[in-house]
Amino acid sequence: MIKQNEFDLIVIGGGPGGYVAAIRASQLGLKVMCVEKRSTPGGTCLNVGCIPSKTLLHSSHLYDQSKNHLGDFGISIKGELKLDLAKMMKNKNEAVAKLTYGVDSLLKKNKIFYINGMAKIIDEECVQVDNENYKSKSILIATGSKPTNIDRIDVDEKNVVTSTGALEFDRVPKTMAVIGGGYIGLELGSVWSRLGAEVTVIEFTNSIVPTMDKDTAQIFLKALQSQGLKFLFKTKVNATTVKSKHVEVDCVNLDKKEKSILEFDKVLLAVGRRPYFEGLGLDALDVEINKNGTIKVDSNFSTSIKGIYAIGDVIEGPMLAHKASAEGHIFAEKLAGKNPQVNYGCIPAVIYTEPEVAWVGPTEQELENKEIPFKKGIFPFTANARGKTTGETTGNIKILSHPKTDRLLAVHIIGAHAGELIGEAVTAIEAGFSAEDLSLICHAHPTLSESMKEAASLASIGKTLHF
Ligand code: NAI
Repeated sequence: MIKQNEFDLIVIGGGPGGYVAAIRASQLGLKVMCVEKRSTPGGTCLNVGCIPSKTLLHSSHLYDQSKNHLGDFGISIKGELKLDLAKMMKNKNEAVAKLTYGVDSLLKKNKIFYINGMAKIIDEECVQVDNENYKSKSILIATGSKPTNIDRIDVDEKNVVTSTGALEFDRVPKTMAVIGGGYIGLELGSVWSRLGAEVTVIEFTNSIVPTMDKDTAQIFLKALQSQGLKFLFKTKVNATTVKSKHVEVDCVNLDKKEKSILEFDKVLLAVGRRPYFEGLGLDALDVEINKNGTIKVDSNFSTSIKGIYAIGDVIEGPMLAHKASAEGHIFAEKLAGKNPQVNYGCIPAVIYTEPEVAWVGPTEQELENKEIPFKKGIFPFTANARGKTTGETTGNIKILSHPKTDRLLAVHIIGAHAGELIGEAVTAIEAGFSAEDLSLICHAHPTLSESMKEAASLASIGKTLHF
């Protein structure tokens, strides 16, 4: 019989990986405890990541539409269009509060023993929280990640900020540097650019989001430039210095080896994230760590210590909330004796800018590198009826399929609502569809999703009805 302070599973971390694992394990009949150091559950994603940033992306999009695009639809606003940033931030905070409250309620509903505090793993059967010991048959590490630092860039979350600080500015900066042209840089750079800041993205490589399909990245870059974002490629930031009225950014152009000092009101550092497990006591336990700093796990999410498991940003793979959730869910099923698998080839990526970018499966370049042959179909949203009605004609859907079997290999979308459209592609790839299968499915008219069917037809037979 399990006693008080004794559990089947202790989950460390209440983010989208941890809380999902805890809920599912409890639903499967295990006695579960979950420990979280933040005052509210939901992890980085709900508290200071995906949710607040998507709220600000939506609000700033509405502002930009009202200011620059309503006229195209015959709507004029009399008088001055005003930005109430304090209200915008309050709305964002309310969205976060409602969702974290929702997770709290789900943990209660599922009878999880949830405590707030810093956990330390004493051994494979014991976790200590605030000097109290809790015993468990299994321990799951789901402690997430934290922003990567650069030595001579001192983040004060006021003038030089990570994504956390960039969600809290109390006025729109006149100028803002974004160090890193990845997911965070482009999403939060877009927010502040739409609200009026002059944004310069400083990127180390020669393109934005280096993991993105190259054709898509080119369309994406042009769209962002047309919105006013500026880009410095092949440029490395070495240091920042906070002065009384501005921040100096010390950078070097890697091609010309030219150094320059640029001045900005605010600087956002967004050069990636790294696994976070400080204070957990993993050193003392001798848990095996990969070269890139992630925790080594096997296909059952077991670390090198029997009984201790890990999922999400602390292990290999893309640092995405939905990847962590998928792992949390599958981990719980496995712990309860079932054996489903995460299909790592089928994890979608979405960037919530305007246009949105979403993809699943390899890029053309990745297929070429692996010498996997492919054929492709590209259908532009300019030829889509729904896009014409809403003015959302930027971008396209690109489908890659195998030349012999016609099996879907990858789908890359740039355009409005790409993050919603990608769901169909994920399902089709997971189900092993051919491009022809997808091209023959009835899609509602007029919808943007018809472009998926048309791109599939182009990939499959080289022809389609509306292009
Ligand atoms: P990232 O890995 O997406 O991009 C970082 C960029 O910084 C890279 O393009 C890199 O070349 C560049 N860089 C590195 N060092 C540099 C230097 N010294 N100077 C200039 N550029 C430099 O990382 P990011 O944007 O910080 O995002 C972190 C994680 O959060 C990502 O893994 C992402 O998956 C996740 N995330 C996901 C979102 C989504 O799903 N929509 C939104 C926000 C974050």
